[in-house]
Amino acid sequence: MRRSLKTKLFLSILLLTSIILSLVWFFNVKFLDSYYIERKKDSLISYSNYIKNIYKGDIEKIYDELERIENLIGGNITIVTSNGEIEYPVSYRPQYGRMGRGLVKGGLGKYISISREDLKEVLTGKTILNTFKHPKFDIEILSVAAPLNNNKVLIIQSSVASIKEGIDIIKDYYIYIAIISLIIGIILTFILTKIITEPIVRLNKVAQKMANLDFSHKYKVVSRDEIGQLGESLNYLSEKLSFTINELNKANEKLKEDIEKERRLDRMRKEFISNVSHELKTPIALIKGYAEGLKDNVIEDIESKNFYCEVIMDEAEKMSKLVKDLLDLSQLESGHYSLNKEKFDICELADKVLNKYRPIFDEKNIKVSIKKDNDKICVYGDKTRLEQVLVNFINNALNHTGAERVLEVTIKQLANKVIVSIYNSGSFIPEDEIDRMWESFYKIDKSRARKYGGTGLGLSIVRNILKLHNSDYGVRNIKNGVEFWFELKLISIDNNDC
Ligand SMILES: Nc1ncnc2c1ncn2[C@@H]1O[C@H](COP(=O)(O)OP(=O)(O)OP(=O)(O)O)[C@@H](O)[C@H]1O
Ligand SMILES: [Mg+2]
Repeated sequence: MRRSLKTKLFLSILLLTSIILSLVWFFNVKFLDSYYIERKKDSLISYSNYIKNIYKGDIEKIYDELERIENLIGGNITIVTSNGEIEYPVSYRPQYGRMGRGLVKGGLGKYISISREDLKEVLTGKTILNTFKHPKFDIEILSVAAPLNNNKVLIIQSSVASIKEGIDIIKDYYIYIAIISLIIGIILTFILTKIITEPIVRLNKVAQKMANLDFSHKYKVVSRDEIGQLGESLNYLSEKLSFTINELNKANEKLKEDIEKERRLDRMRKEFISNVSHELKTPIALIKGYAEGLKDNVIEDIESKNFYCEVIMDEAEKMSKLVKDLLDLSQLESGHYSLNKEKFDICELADKVLNKYRPIFDEKNIKVSIKKDNDKICVYGDKTRLEQVLVNFINNALNHTGAERVLEVTIKQLANKVIVSIYNSGSFIPEDEIDRMWESFYKIDKSRARKYGGTGLGLSIVRNILKLHNSDYGVRNIKNGVEFWFELKLISIDNNDC
């Protein structure tokens, strides 16, 4: 299992606290006794030195002081003469005088224990320190024997048991202290680890989000320490990265668009060349064939010769139209073509175009009509180019009238615009072709277009002219036929001055 930083830190501090507490406990158990006894010995020696200093031969003068010291050390003080007589404590003198005999036997009796050898040594000026067991009560006693003036010996005794009792109390007390310290330690450690790890956990969360390229999360800086600074750096890094990646994405997007555009242009160029060569192939083949026929004199009669020449002229005418249309289209699509706009009467223009086509309508038996909201409707636009638009629409319409042979031009005048529509009876245009028919060289019915000499550039030219006029345009299938329409800007309903 992966341990979190918080747990690790918590356990570490807890372990450290426990080790320190255990060490203290260990030293207490192991060395406190001997240390305490050593200290006690030192203190007994320093008291003996003190008594040596204040004792000038007259014991009565220092009674009170000796009693005070006895109370302080929890022991007793004895002063004996060189022959074993007890000079102090005074009240026990008879009793201790008797006990004093023990000295000859090797000890000072009930309370006092010093061997003759030791006494001799003390009398030579040495201080002797030892511990012995009380012969009756099995109590360990600490004893210091030190020389005084006038060949007297000072013996200070203190029970080790009283010392041990103190030590046991301390040991007991220590266990409580250790338990309480451990509990407080756990609580403090918990709080401390939370304080230390909480910012790191938050930093980690932000960094993880950043790793997933999510830069919306920021580190909330609450302290000015190293972690706070790290948080600030992380925020700065996040902002920089976010900005740079954004820029990169944008550049990438643009690059993709450019590549796509380039590809599209390339495709269009290729399509265009293939379309142009395809459109030229048939007339050139025809011209070539008929010209060779003429040259080889395969035909004798003048009628056939005329037919040959007509085919050649007709095909040459188609080629010339194609070239003209291509030039037109490239001009309009160049992006710097400017229209020659003027005010003119759209009704008059429509009439003019229809009149031009009159012989063809008659020849093809087409019923033509024109509906106008007004006799004269002034619009603003490039008259020549808009004539081209009308010619193209009418030309298309008359080639697609079907069996009904109806062609209808309508000029509708609205509040601020004019809608011109050209309707022809005939079959519907499939919905999925409606958008594509405005593309260059796009023909819905290729064989039919070939018959009337269509190259598929007409609607493309129309679209470009209308776009330059910012006019809306379109086509819809209506009652047994189709209707092409486009809008023009109206000068003014009342102002028919054009
Ligand atoms: N009124 C119409 N009814 C039915 N289909 C039409 C009509 N007008 C155009 N189309 C279809 O749209 C195609 C594209 O028309 P467009 O005018 O661009 O080319 P075209 O008439 O074939 O040749 P061009 O106009 O260059 O001589 C035509 O080939 C035809 O199939
Ligand atoms: Mg056309």
